[in-house]
Amino acid sequence: MTDRNENTKDLVRRQFGANAANYATSIVHAKGASLDRLVSLMAPEPGWDLLDIATAAGHTAFAFAPHVATVVASDLVDEMLEVARTQAAERGHDNVSFERADAEALPFGDGSFDAVTCRIAPHHFNTPERFVAEVARVLRPGGRFGLVDNMVNDEAERFVNDWERKRDPSHVKALSVERWTALVEQAGLSMVAAETLAKRMRFQDWVENMSVPPDVRIELLAELKDAPEAAATYLRPEFGPTGAQSSTAFHLTEGVLVAQKPTG
Ligand SMILES: C[S@@+](CC[C@H](N)C(=O)[O-])C[C@H]1O[C@@H](n2cnc3c(N)ncnc32)[C@H](O)[C@@H]1O
Repeated sequence: MTDRNENTKDLVRRQFGANAANYATSIVHAKGASLDRLVSLMAPEPGWDLLDIATAAGHTAFAFAPHVATVVASDLVDEMLEVARTQAAERGHDNVSFERADAEALPFGDGSFDAVTCRIAPHHFNTPERFVAEVARVLRPGGRFGLVDNMVNDEAERFVNDWERKRDPSHVKALSVERWTALVEQAGLSMVAAETLAKRMRFQDWVENMSVPPDVRIELLAELKDAPEAAATYLRPEFGPTGAQSSTAFHLTEGVLVAQKPTG
């Protein structure tokens, strides 16, 4: 593993370890439209064993738990798994177990799962091709992969990724739907469905989730106000009457992709 990889994982542990509890209540994670859409497009079956990668507070794992036999909720960060474990107990999900797992080196045997999900996390992974290859490896023939992440077009990509990284240094890169489709197909899976959804983000929630220092919040707001045209078209900022942080919002685009491993 390279230094860059280790460095990113240390940043993930630091960022999410310190802010783990915020992800239990974050509206975009707990109730985002992509959650229902992912469940519908995956069409889960009662006998499935499902792996949720980068589960954070477990929202995706819990959305699937009533529809499948077992769920393994996994994450790189122990503090996140602790939050997810508490949430599962409070909600009475007794078919969910928890494992520490790096998305790019999964500690599971070949063909272990009927389905794998990963939502709003792959932009933290250094080597998306390794992640997708690992997903393909742990899926059984005919198994399904459901991926949700923030997707960005080529024109806005530079600004949006730099801006996100300033808020959260563990952000590596949001990719485009086309790039994810290519990666999934290179790993030998076939695309079954691909949709995009707009997601409205309250600036204040976005910075509070990652405990961003006050001076960096000011810089992030100024950069949003000054965003180049392509980035502004993508982010569609709303500044409210005062232009204050509390009245500011913007939009991200989530991709919901479902792919399948060949049966034979
Ligand atoms: C925004 S949260 C995911 C939200 C969650 N999937 C949901 O649907 O609510 C991002 C998560 O990715 C995890 N993560 C980042 N890099 C990872 C890696 N290499 N392997 C596994 N988990 C990782 C973080 O620890 C964090 O819990």
